[in-house]
Amino acid sequence: QKGKNYDYEVTAQEGITEFFEGISTETYGYNGDLLGPTLKIEEGESVNVKITNDLNEPTTFHWHGLEVASKIDGGPSDEIQPGESRIITLEADQPAATLWYHPHVHEMTAEQVFRGLSGMLIIDNSINSDLEIPNEYGVNDIPLIFQDRLFDEDKQLDYDNLMNVDGTLGDVSMVNGTINPKMTVTEPIMRFRLLNGSNARNYTFRLSNGDNFTQIASDGSLLDEPVDRKELTLAASERAEILIDFSKLTEEESLSIINEEGVVLLPFDVKDTDSTAGSIKTWTTDEPFLTDEEKEMPVTKNIELFGMMDMVSINGKKFDADRIDLRQEQGVTEVWEIYNKPDMMGGMVHPFHIHGTQFKVISRDGEEVEESEQGFKDSVAVEPGERVKLLVTFPEKGVYVFHCHILEHEDNGMMGQIEVY
Ligand code: C2O
Ligand code: CU
Ligand code: CU
Repeated sequence: QKGKNYDYEVTAQEGITEFFEGISTETYGYNGDLLGPTLKIEEGESVNVKITNDLNEPTTFHWHGLEVASKIDGGPSDEIQPGESRIITLEADQPAATLWYHPHVHEMTAEQVFRGLSGMLIIDNSINSDLEIPNEYGVNDIPLIFQDRLFDEDKQLDYDNLMNVDGTLGDVSMVNGTINPKMTVTEPIMRFRLLNGSNARNYTFRLSNGDNFTQIASDGSLLDEPVDRKELTLAASERAEILIDFSKLTEEESLSIINEEGVVLLPFDVKDTDSTAGSIKTWTTDEPFLTDEEKEMPVTKNIELFGMMDMVSINGKKFDADRIDLRQEQGVTEVWEIYNKPDMMGGMVHPFHIHGTQFKVISRDGEEVEESEQGFKDSVAVEPGERVKLLVTFPEKGVYVFHCHILEHEDNGMMGQIEVY
């Protein structure tokens, strides 16, 4: 026997997590009690993954941001029943990026993610890269999954879709599944892969000392060039990679990642970093992020996001698994205009996500986007009243969903389907 014919095994299962000392909380996890292992695929390579559902309900395995054939994309039509296993091949035929995976069963996505099902999926190209970006996983290259959670008085996860129709907002914040996390830093320049893995909450990240940090990547690729930022907002499902320079901190100074209200999300404990070793290398690409031709392409797909609570819709409709809403030819680039139509109450931000593609953001209300959005993306936050133009190409054929990534909105039907032919 040659051994197993897969590189990774990912099993959705029930678990018990001690979020609070001495108290067991029922959770879901991949291969464990909570969250899942970070999977890594070398850029241009593929891995075989054995997926298994050990839950007592159907689930799916969705590879958020990965441009894969729709039959293994893990969308709502791709249910894995309790006890079922499959081996699939995930190919990373796209730039290095921080992606993630999570379930996508229709009307159960929000609850399954809330209970703990998410993990990171990294496309890596550090062996071929001369960009000198920190790439020692767990040492100076750290995944950070930010989530908020709600607990009942027995300290059990308190999921109630009917109470939280606009998305579950928790009062407890966690990083990588830990309440009150702390991170020990031993290297002068650290790379953090930030994922907003919450059901609905937007996070604005800042440093506690008011210093800048450097954003190097968006959802689906490195940026055209690194940009210095004072703060960075990620809507649900968005990612960013940042570098923080710890080399200039004095012994007494402390540093944390905080949110816009000054609440500490992640404090750092800095241990003998070599202050002479650090510096952030920059780069620029010769080609513009968008060509003039791309900027001037006419809009051929209109998407209207509307509503709140369970009255959400896309182009006036709710999700129907038997209906194809849009069609686009494989490999042909089109411009989608996403309009977030305000309602009498004003409306709310909807993070719009498309499966099976990494797109470019062309403009927001006609204005060219900032450097921090000049990288590939798969989710884009659209403000009430805003019109965002996207340049969208699907490399594979099949039927994919697009939806609001407030998971309760998605479950409430704020989702459509596109056939790529
Ligand atoms: Cu993060 Cu439809 O997915
Ligand atoms: Cu997705
Ligand atoms: Cu929404």
